[in-house]
Amino acid sequence: MELGGFVVMDASNSPGPVVFVIFGGGGDLAWRKLIPSLFHLHVKGELPDRFAIIAVDRAGYSDRTLRERLRAGVRQFSKPQRMRPKDWRGFSAHIHYLRAEFGAAKTYRDLAQRLTELDKAWGAQSVRIFHLATPPSLVGVIPRRLATSGLAGDRARARIVVEKPIGSDLESARALNGVLTKSFQEPQIFRIDHYLGKETVQNILAFRFANPMFEPIWNRRYVDCVTITVAEEVGVGHRGKYFERAGELRDMVQNHLMQLLCLVAMEAPVSFDADEIRDKKVAVLHALRRFTPEEVATHTVRGQYGRGLLGGKRVAGYRQEKDVAPDSTTETYAALKLHVDNWRWQDVPFYLRAGKRMARQVTEIVVKFRPVPHRMFPTDAVLAWQPTRVTLRIQPEEGIVVRCYAKVPGSLMRLRQVDMHFNYREAFKTPSPPAYATLLRDVMVNDATLFMRSDQVEAAWSALMPVLDAWRTVTPESFPNYAAGSSGPASADDLLRAGGHSW
Ligand code: BG6
Repeated sequence: MELGGFVVMDASNSPGPVVFVIFGGGGDLAWRKLIPSLFHLHVKGELPDRFAIIAVDRAGYSDRTLRERLRAGVRQFSKPQRMRPKDWRGFSAHIHYLRAEFGAAKTYRDLAQRLTELDKAWGAQSVRIFHLATPPSLVGVIPRRLATSGLAGDRARARIVVEKPIGSDLESARALNGVLTKSFQEPQIFRIDHYLGKETVQNILAFRFANPMFEPIWNRRYVDCVTITVAEEVGVGHRGKYFERAGELRDMVQNHLMQLLCLVAMEAPVSFDADEIRDKKVAVLHALRRFTPEEVATHTVRGQYGRGLLGGKRVAGYRQEKDVAPDSTTETYAALKLHVDNWRWQDVPFYLRAGKRMARQVTEIVVKFRPVPHRMFPTDAVLAWQPTRVTLRIQPEEGIVVRCYAKVPGSLMRLRQVDMHFNYREAFKTPSPPAYATLLRDVMVNDATLFMRSDQVEAAWSALMPVLDAWRTVTPESFPNYAAGSSGPASADDLLRAGGHSW
């Protein structure tokens, strides 16, 4: 049935209706992530029959031209399944365009009217998800407008989804959280860090807390150090304008790497309750040792890529990228040595590094264990002992590797390290869903476990403020200090070497 421009599906016994209102629905995030993920949910049968997507934007599309654009995005970015024309037809009929200015009161009146029409047609009250896929500056505007037009008031049905970055430092994050919580109640607010939607990231909880043998050794008595690496091959691409103001510490460390750190270092939650898990994560951030200004110099490294070779191709340096100043001092690489000051982790260093234009893409966490208390083997059994380690591989390879010693076959007692592999693809024979699909489904069913609470965001900023302050005041003289396609600045290796460790 067609009503007021909307296709309305009639399925009285399906789950309640839901409307995704995407502010910035004509933009990049909707094109690359949100629509392909919603399409994925549709194909998997995880969207209710009664759903609508309203793309709010200034760009000037019609329903037809917007759908065409989004179809190209789904083709390009929907990896797990091929796009069947029939599926796309069924899905795209639910997408509608609303041309609007984000700051104008009329926009919200028009939106409210459309939402009311839908509810009337469905004969039910829909869940309304307002997703801000807009530049961060609009996060201060849209929630207020939604609230004054009465669209935020229904605690049970109105939800708002906000993308990172939440602020650019502690103060601005507090201000933004203030704006959000004035318009919506905290349980209605879903702050996205898409890393939390990745299967392998969620699996850290399963690995640690569903198996009896790791937790007893997951502490300072057995663990020597932990390294967390997020290396990307991509540079800043067309995002120079944003990245010049952000830098790698804000773009990657404050959110994605801090989330990984929390999952690997947190205490065992008592239940799978959203707040219980988030409480345990926030406790890790509160326990992070604050750097003194002097420690920033010895415990952190920043870098910026210069020209280089990547996959055999010449690539530009950061300063040659579009919208980047030729003398930019923005970091594209950050490494930190952190300590979690609590009983479990006292004196165990956590080394974090994130960089763009690195030799190869890899996201992984390595937990390295202390040597056995006594090595009773012949002295020539091993040439150079290496730590036993557990590697949690997040991407592109997804799995877990336990590296330990084994006897080499033969008459002599020789030992060598071997890898015990768990590989997602092989074990489950099914590709992981896109991170955004997991997260959007969770918003739909009102499960906040994988979303950041305001106190968590602020605690992460608070831990990094000494670094941000010190980096702002001291100009990095040596930039660019690593070549595109390399493994980052050499000083990042020294950071670990000082403690007898390596990446
Ligand atoms: C985003 C950052 O949050 O994550 C980007 O803004 C980065 O700079 C991206 O490239 C990495 O995400 P993924 O899922 O490709 O590891």
